[in-house]
Amino acid sequence: MRLNVLIDEVLRAMAESAAKRGGPVPAVTPAELAARVRAVLDEAGGALPDSGTGPLEAVSAITSLLVYGSADPADPACAAHLHCPPLPEAVAADLAVSALNPSLDSWDQAPAAVTLERELVTALAGLTRFDPGRASGTVTTGGSESNLMGLMLARDRAPAGRRRVFCSQGAHFSIQRAAALLGLDGVEPIATDATHRMDPASLAAALTGCERAGDVPVAVVATAGTTDTGAVDPLAEIADVASAHGVWLHVDAAHGGGALLSDRLAPLVRGIERADSVGIDLHKFGWVPAAAGVFLVRDAGAMAGLETRAAYLNPADDVAEGYDGLLGQSLRTTRRADCAKILVVLRSLGRRGLGELVDRCHDLALRAADLIVADPELELVAPPVLSTVVFRYRDGDEVNAALRRRLLRQGRAVVGRTELDGRVCLKLTLLNPETDVASLLSAVVMAGREESR
Ligand SMILES: Cc1ncc(COP(=O)(O)O)c(C=O)c1O
Repeated sequence: MRLNVLIDEVLRAMAESAAKRGGPVPAVTPAELAARVRAVLDEAGGALPDSGTGPLEAVSAITSLLVYGSADPADPACAAHLHCPPLPEAVAADLAVSALNPSLDSWDQAPAAVTLERELVTALAGLTRFDPGRASGTVTTGGSESNLMGLMLARDRAPAGRRRVFCSQGAHFSIQRAAALLGLDGVEPIATDATHRMDPASLAAALTGCERAGDVPVAVVATAGTTDTGAVDPLAEIADVASAHGVWLHVDAAHGGGALLSDRLAPLVRGIERADSVGIDLHKFGWVPAAAGVFLVRDAGAMAGLETRAAYLNPADDVAEGYDGLLGQSLRTTRRADCAKILVVLRSLGRRGLGELVDRCHDLALRAADLIVADPELELVAPPVLSTVVFRYRDGDEVNAALRRRLLRQGRAVVGRTELDGRVCLKLTLLNPETDVASLLSAVVMAGREESR
């Protein structure tokens, strides 16, 4: 069957099923939705039927189910996670990547995509204010993989001993996971100030203590845009401390890397150019469908340890003639050309256009904070830095938790949840410039009243 017929069916099923959902999420319980999913699969004989139903029915059934049962990040009442509504040009370009299936590990599977990714990395290194002639990097699946790569490169240059990593209490859990995977001997949480930023004096004291104990400080991880509050650690001061101790500095800018696109917010990430490695996710601020992470190193030599020779992928004589892929840039072998959809967005909007979207999300967060402060039934817990607002309905933890589930069950709103200082909080993570923050907050207040009764 021709691809265009199937694409027409996807678009039709998307429109029909989004209308059936009628809101940011379907108004069902998790058990009801799971039963519906199983029923649709059972209509065809299960997830792996003996005989297939054919392409049109399969595309129609699975797409309809997926779309009906989605949390739609483009809906103005969906604002829970760092989960952006992708731009249509990125989605469209990604179709060609799926159809041609280029794999970046060897030149003969992805002749143009290999250069597209190299150019993307150079451009983003320039945005980060690394020297693009010295820097290097790779497209990753996102912040978790970028954090793993940053810590791996740091580990590989560290001397033997008890090897420890330092990051703020607000750092993403993938740092812990990466350290465990890499056989490191622990991650030390550094105290934060009242605005949830890492305290450089506490970092310096911890590094000195580590050295006095005869241990090896492997890496400092600073966060530009924490998951919970969007706090940006003081990067320049942290770079001073890391360099005074000769320790690798990785900046997890999965979210806050977007500030580099905005003239207004770029000063927040001053000092990022002094990092040894940086991770930025274009599937957060970037409006590219996941996965669209980018890992950068200030000095290309740091990635030399990843170089791999495989007779079937990059024999030396092919490489000498220019037939070289990107095997030596990544931990993965088969690797999708996620660079294409990112480059489409960068070309379509340019840095200025993307910066305007970042600014609009930041403005929305400021407006949401003003509305929260003005509403006696709400309490602002963490004012916005980037585009995250943390707040509470003025009642106990149980009411805050229950009102969020009520909104999901009713299909009315998707609001985030976290815990700060031991209290359950609600969170708006604003990556959609079209989010209706006033209606979202009044839905929260109404659900809070209903749950408090
Ligand atoms: C600060 C930070 N780092 C890393 C990650 C992990 O990113 P990913 O889910 O793309 O692996 C997240 C996810 O939200 C994040 O907020």
